[in-house]
Parts: sequence; structure tokens; C-alpha cells
Amino acid sequence: MEILITTPSFGQQSREPWQALENQGFTVRRPVKAHPLSAADLAEEIGGADAVIVGLDAVEASVFAAAPNLKVVAKHGVGVDNVDCAAATAAGVRVVNAPGSNSSAVADLTLGLMLALARQLIPAHLSTQAGGWERFTGVELTGRTLGLVGFGRIGQAVARRARAFDMKVVAYDPYLPAEVFPQLDTVQTSLEECIASADFLSLHMPGTPGGAPLLDSAALSTMKQGAFLINAARGGLVDEDALAARLHTGDLGGAALDAFSVEPSSSTAPSGPRRTSSSPRTSVPSRTRRTPPWA
Ligand SMILES: NC(=O)c1ccc[n+]([C@@H]2O[C@H](COP(=O)([O-])OP(=O)(O)OC[C@H]3O[C@@H](n4cnc5c(N)ncnc54)[C@H](O)[C@@H]3O)[C@@H](O)[C@H]2O)c1
Repeated sequence: MEILITTPSFGQQSREPWQALENQGFTVRRPVKAHPLSAADLAEEIGGADAVIVGLDAVEASVFAAAPNLKVVAKHGVGVDNVDCAAATAAGVRVVNAPGSNSSAVADLTLGLMLALARQLIPAHLSTQAGGWERFTGVELTGRTLGLVGFGRIGQAVARRARAFDMKVVAYDPYLPAEVFPQLDTVQTSLEECIASADFLSLHMPGTPGGAPLLDSAALSTMKQGAFLINAARGGLVDEDALAARLHTGDLGGAALDAFSVEPSSSTAPSGPRRTSSSPRTSVPSRTRRTPPWA
């Protein structure tokens, strides 16, 4: 049995997972082309693989047509919005993921981004590195409203952390039972209320069906004056041009993006003067409690 592993983060911190597959008698191989693979490249690489462990690659119908032995597509992570699940079902291929595998990492990152925006850490760092001694005025998190769009594993982990900063947490998630929200001291809201009431708005939902941005120009214009946006979910959720415009006018206080509509790419990263943070999915490679932080 053969497994194709396209995601570079699999086995990056330790050979253990790779070894576990080989110990089970699997032949494991990497593609020649770099992650994330287009559907055409993946179709070319897949050959006789029985399973594929993917990251953000485009697993479209053409891939299943080119993969006579394929039985399983395993997402090395959570969101399966890059996998055509209907085409997989039609081809008799199972799609599995790893729920919760990076909840703590993404929640930690989200709080880090919120703090960086609130305290202007990135402009302060750049200014000091450039020889300056400029004083930056920060924003306190205490008493501010954090709006979460998507209240699954990561959204809830962010809410728990935000409560430690005495933030008020509101959330929109139409698929959860109402009793989940008060259990985490969170007020359930509509999407519109969530966007409009947040001092910090953070997205934790999958990509929208069809890929239309959740936060288009009209939705961004309903955010509070000076509010901050954090997107560590999916790039396509935010209209990046509209976001850049609102950052340049100063309507928004800042934005931190860990996901972009085109990846890898820096050209889509809004470069609002001093008020943005961009990172290339920094939450994914993560050392867990099992790995010492210095390893
Ligand atoms: N930056 C990264 O590298 C990274 C890593 C892991 C996950 N993610 C993203 O974070 C998202 C959340 O991950 P999770 O582990 O919490 O997943 P999860 O499945 O536990 O939670 C997702 C939540 O989103 C809700 N949801 C779905 N559609 C929605 C909509 N239209 N509006 C509001 N809520 C909606 C669901 O009901 C669910 O509760 C993933 O879908 C993925 O897009 C990003």
C-alpha cells in the first residue's frame, strides 16, 4: 500500500509519524512539486497511491479520475474546504481530517495577534530596529468586546483565553446549540451584531461555499471605527482589497492575517501603514507538550 504525503508539515518536527506508517508496511513518498499542489499537479503525482495526506492542495474531481487505487484523502489539519467531498463520495474515496489537532496553536496565535495589534508591537519593533525611540499608544484588552465568527473548537479556545483578559465575548455560529455559548461566558449574536459590536473581530469558520468573502466591502464598513480584524482561518473569508482600503483610510485600527486568498503570496497581503501583521499560517507547525520547546 502506498501513501503520498503532500503536506510539508507532516513529520517535520519528528520522524515518529512517518516511522509509524512505515512500521505498518506502507510505502510513503513525497511529491516532486512543492505544496500546495494544483489539481493538475496532484493528478500527475498521485499515480497508484492508495491514500494521500494533504495540506492545502486542490483535491478536485480530476484528481480522483487520475487515481485508480485511491481509498482515503486525509487532511493534515482541520478544514476540508480544499477537498471536493462530493467528487470523493462519487469516486468511493473517504475524506478524513484531524479535528482539534491545531486548536491550541491557532488560539494561542490569535491571542498573540490580538496583543500585537493592541500594543502596536510590530511597528514598535520596526521603529526601534531602525534606530528610533518612538512611543506607541496601546489599547487595553480589558473591557473590550471580542467578536468570534465560528464558535467551534478554535473559537471556543480563543473565548477561554480572552476571558482571562476580562474581555466581553460575543459569537456567531448558526450551527451550534444555544446552550454552548453561555457555558463559555459568551453572548450568542447574529452575524451582523457580531461584526458591528466587536472591538476585535476574529474569524474561526471554514471557507464559504463558493468562496465569496464573508467580510466584503459592505460588511467591513459595518465594523466599529478603529476596530481590529484577525483572520487565522481562511484567506477567502476577507475581501483583501476592501480591507486594505479601510486600513488606509484609518477606519479600522489594524488587521492581522495568517491566511490569504492566494497562498503562498505576499502580494495579496494588505499593507496598511503600520497597522497590519501578516504571517504565513504560523499556527500550523507547532511543538506540542510532548516536544520540548527548544528541540
Ligand atoms: N490558520 C491555519 O492554519 C488554520 C489551522 C486550523 C484551522 N483553521 C481554520 O479554522 C477553522 C475553524 O477550525 P476549528 O478547528 O474550530 O473547526 P470546527 O469545525 O471545530 O469549528 C468550525 C465552526 O465554524 C462554524 N461555522 C461553519 N460555517 C459557519 C458560518 N457560515 N458562520 C459561522 N460559523 C460557521 C461551525 O458550526 C463550527 O462550529 C477551520 O475551518 C479552518 O478554516 C486555520
